[in-house]
This record gives sequence, structure tokens and C-alpha cells, in this order.
Amino acid sequence: MALKVRVDKEKCRSCGFCRSVNVCFSPKLCVGCLACYRACPFEARELVPAVKSDVTVTVFLDDVPLKVPSNTTIADALQTVGFRFNKPGREPSLACRTGGCWSCALPVDGRLERTCVTPVRNGIRISTSLLDLEPLRIVHGPEPHLVGGKATPWWEVDYVHYVEAAIWTAGCNLSCPQCQNFTVTYDNSSPPLKPREAARLLAACHNLYRTRGVAVSGGEPTLNRLWLCSFFRELSKLLPPRVRKHLDSNGTILSRDYVDELVENGCNNIGVEPKCVSVTSYMKITGLRDEEFASRYLENAWRIAQYIYENYRDRVYLGIGLVYNPRLVSLEEIADAGTRVASIGDDVQVTVLDYFPAFRRRDIERPSFAEMLKVKKILEAQGLKTVIVQTSRGRIGPGEKAD
Ligand code: FES
Repeated sequence: MALKVRVDKEKCRSCGFCRSVNVCFSPKLCVGCLACYRACPFEARELVPAVKSDVTVTVFLDDVPLKVPSNTTIADALQTVGFRFNKPGREPSLACRTGGCWSCALPVDGRLERTCVTPVRNGIRISTSLLDLEPLRIVHGPEPHLVGGKATPWWEVDYVHYVEAAIWTAGCNLSCPQCQNFTVTYDNSSPPLKPREAARLLAACHNLYRTRGVAVSGGEPTLNRLWLCSFFRELSKLLPPRVRKHLDSNGTILSRDYVDELVENGCNNIGVEPKCVSVTSYMKITGLRDEEFASRYLENAWRIAQYIYENYRDRVYLGIGLVYNPRLVSLEEIADAGTRVASIGDDVQVTVLDYFPAFRRRDIERPSFAEMLKVKKILEAQGLKTVIVQTSRGRIGPGEKAD
């Protein structure tokens, strides 16, 4: 059944998020892209059945005229005539669907448009070939970072020097209710950058602050594979191999050939964040509702971390990310996660994020310093040599005692 979105005035706090961060591409008539439903921090949007309309418009897909429903997005209109994105990672249903990642973009009347949020219009000419156009993506930053991400080697962090120059890409394929970076993740209104533009900015930031590495985090950077691989390629032209080129990912859609391509293009530092080990916790953390789907994502993250360790140990510094908040993950599960990491390698760096209240989970409390030290101790008891926990007082690494 087609759905549209209605504002729940009781819940709306007039925060302005839908006017300045995740904006509507069809404000006069809801076309059911559901981006605002996914992005509203106060869940002040509800889904209602859309009245079915028989009105059609004509679009030209690679010069072939096609009648498609009006009052819908370009992606949904194309779906009704059997169009599928032919490259993995470009199907909007497996990407962000909020307008940030640009992986669903197609040339429309000669310029790239995001098909997941853009309303279909009569007479538009859509091309399925991206050959002449460079990929785009919304990017925040660059900024110098004192701490880094999941795969920032722990010994480089001294809280005095900037360790990495980083950018953050918009758009994510998960819907974590406690998203720790939601103003970036749901941004669909900032102008997008080409890979070369983002690489130049990041390299300039690295040069200015003399960092040991550069990083891309998100959102989920691996959405929009064309953009990401090209970004690392451009970065490698600008920075020598000794400068770490770090990708932080949730690992859900990274395949072996995707990792191979990233490494080939100069990525030599990868953080993968399965977050936990049980599907029940994963669904709670990520907001995914389909158990089979969630299980596939979770397993993919663990397996790809193993693949990176087994195949690129000499070329890629791997970090695994877990999360902790007693409302989402138990200490028993932390122990199980530690066992799983140890089965990959006891020397793998593990970083545990202490989830603080954010986005739609303002009801949770940030774990205390003592709780995070306990998490560290539990993981070390599983034989792991490199455990870092993020705490309200900063990161506590392998050199620092948990008791
Ligand atoms: S799926 Fe369309 S912008 Fe991300």
C-alpha cells in the first residue's frame, strides 16, 4: 500500500530539523519518499495511506517514453516499469532513502538527481549511464580530530596533537534511534561534493594540522561505492602511503571485492563496527525491524572484519567497533562479543563506544566511567590485547589499567 506522511502536531517541537537539515523536495504535495518520517528527531511524523491516483506522466528512460504514476518519487516511478539499479549499493531500499548518500542518483535532464527523494515530473529525460558525470555526496568537515575513530591506532592518540583530519558523509542504511551523529547522517540539504573536491579539502586539512592520518566516517561512507572508491583514489594521488587513509564503516554492505577495491585505491586503515553479537540487540540498536535482514547485516559486518584481518593484516590496520549502554547491550553480550573478536585475532584493536542520549533516544543515560572500565575488563578477560573504551573522561586504552 502506498503511504504518505502527516505531521503529528502534538509531537512536533518546531525544532527546524525538517527546514534546515532534512528538507522536503515536494513540500506542496507529499510523494511518499518518507525521508522526513525517517529523519524527524522527535518522531513527529506518521504514515497514513495515500489516496491512489490513476494520473500518469511520461518520462524518457534512455530515450524510451514510458508512462509512470505521478505523485511519486523518480525511484518509485521507475520501479513500476521494472527498472532496477544494476550496481550493488545503488538501490535506494538498501541505501539511505533520505537524500544524503546520492547512491541512487541518475542523470535527469543532464544533471545528477537523487531519485529517492525527487518527485517525478512530466517529460523528464532520465539516463541510466553515469559515464559522463562524476558521483556526488554530501560531506561534512574536514576537521582535525584529537581522538580519531575505530581503527585509529591507539598509540597515536595523545590528546595533545591532532591525530587525524576527518570528513563525515551523510546518509546511512541503518536507522539507529540513538544515532550519535544525526545532524550529518540525515543532512540532505547541503551541497554535495565530487570525490576529488572532498579529497583536496581533506588533504589540505591534513597538511595544515600535520596529522598522521585522514579519515572518512559518517553516516555510512560505504553507501555510494563509486564515490568512495574514487575518493580514496584521489586521496592517494595527493598523500603518500605513510599517511593513514582510514575508513570507518558499519560493515553491513562491505563485500570482499569492495574491500579489495578500496585497498587497491589506497585505503590502508579500516574500522568495522558490528556493534554487538546478538540479533535482538542489533535490531534494538539499529532500528532494523526485519530479523532476517538484520541478521544478514550483522553477520556481514563480522565476516568482513575477519576477511580484512585474514587477507590484509600486513597492509591494513583493522579496528572493530562495539557499543555499550545497559539499555541496549548486556555485559554478558559484551563478553560474547569479546570472544568473537578474539576468534578473529587477539591482537585486533577493539573500541567500545559509550552511547550517550541523542536523536530519538534522549531517555538513555550515558554509561558511567566505572561501567566503561568494567566493559574494558570484561573484554580483556576474553584475551584481547588492545581494548579501548570511550568514556565521559576520554578514551582509556590498552596502556591504562581497568582497575
Ligand atoms: S538512497 Fe537516495 S540519496 Fe541515499
